[in-house]
Amino acid sequence: MIKNIAVIPGDGIGTEVIEQTVRVLDAIGEKFGHTFNYTYLEAGGCAIDSTGKPLPEETLEACKKSDSVLLGAVGGPKWENIPGIRPEQALLGLRGGLGLFANLRPAIMYDQLKAACPLKEEIIEGGLDIMIVRELTGGIYFGESGRSEDGQSAYDVEAYSVPEIERLLVQAAEIAMKRKKHVTVVDKANILETSRMWREVAAKVFADYPEIKVDFLYVDNASMQLVRNPRQFDVIATSNIFGDILSDEASQITGSIGMLPSASLGVGSFGMYEPVHGSAPDIAGKNIANPLATILSAAMMLRYSFNMTAEADAIEAAVGKTLDDGIRTADIAGGASPVGTKEMGDAVIARL
Ligand code: IPM
Ligand code: MN
Repeated sequence: MIKNIAVIPGDGIGTEVIEQTVRVLDAIGEKFGHTFNYTYLEAGGCAIDSTGKPLPEETLEACKKSDSVLLGAVGGPKWENIPGIRPEQALLGLRGGLGLFANLRPAIMYDQLKAACPLKEEIIEGGLDIMIVRELTGGIYFGESGRSEDGQSAYDVEAYSVPEIERLLVQAAEIAMKRKKHVTVVDKANILETSRMWREVAAKVFADYPEIKVDFLYVDNASMQLVRNPRQFDVIATSNIFGDILSDEASQITGSIGMLPSASLGVGSFGMYEPVHGSAPDIAGKNIANPLATILSAAMMLRYSFNMTAEADAIEAAVGKTLDDGIRTADIAGGASPVGTKEMGDAVIARL
């Protein structure tokens, strides 16, 4: 197969982790007889430097023409104080502009990295494998916002339509059907009208999935349950802002944020794939960042956008073997002596 991939390395460690991931994709192409064509595009801080805009039109247009998007990370202190412009606007522009309404964020604890998990052993006994399905193009992130004329008040509106909730919950249900068939809808229905509507829509959507066990949790309780007993969760389905917060919490309880991939999906097979971690400007350019989250994001791309199951399995198995062999970047090294970003790429390719 021939696939055209839009590649947005972005800022900070983004370029380094993308470089290794493209090498892994090339190795997969060779092994399985595929051709991956890459179009390199700018977004985030580097795009502000070269065009004055975090998301140049040509980047968005080129993404629309591609089969999927692979993104490193955007942002950094250099671009924090420009009035009205932030590198993160590139992410919102890509999500909205590409119609990527469902964000899949797995929180997996790797058995080989159990020691890095901050929770007590009895709590994580048996492993952790949670999939957060976060709504990504609605709610308070995309609602009306502004300030009053006198500058003494400000507002951000949380609004959801029935179709927006419905398509997100259908996505969550479809994913749950391939997992443990358990969805927890997280909301704040004791306070918010939007949340009460989420519950009504959920009742309708899940009526079509009688095998799925559905429960509802308020977000404050959910954030507590995530550290108290995370193994009760399979799929968590939630709004944009709650998903933002809970996915950071979930990533930390796995102990290895440098390992976590994500997928943002819309209608059809197109998707955008990126690591959960950010641009880590403090360690950029030093060949010490962990490329595995991005490499695993590429595996998600093969699985969800290209339907290349064996190829995705091959990457995930190679990553597993690399960990089994004790190869670690600094973030997951514990006491062991770490390898660099490039050497981690070499190690995964050698095990493909
Ligand atoms: C994330 C990030 C973004 C978000 C920011 C950078 C816009 O925190 O992907 O979770 O809030 O969605
Ligand atoms: Mn976030």
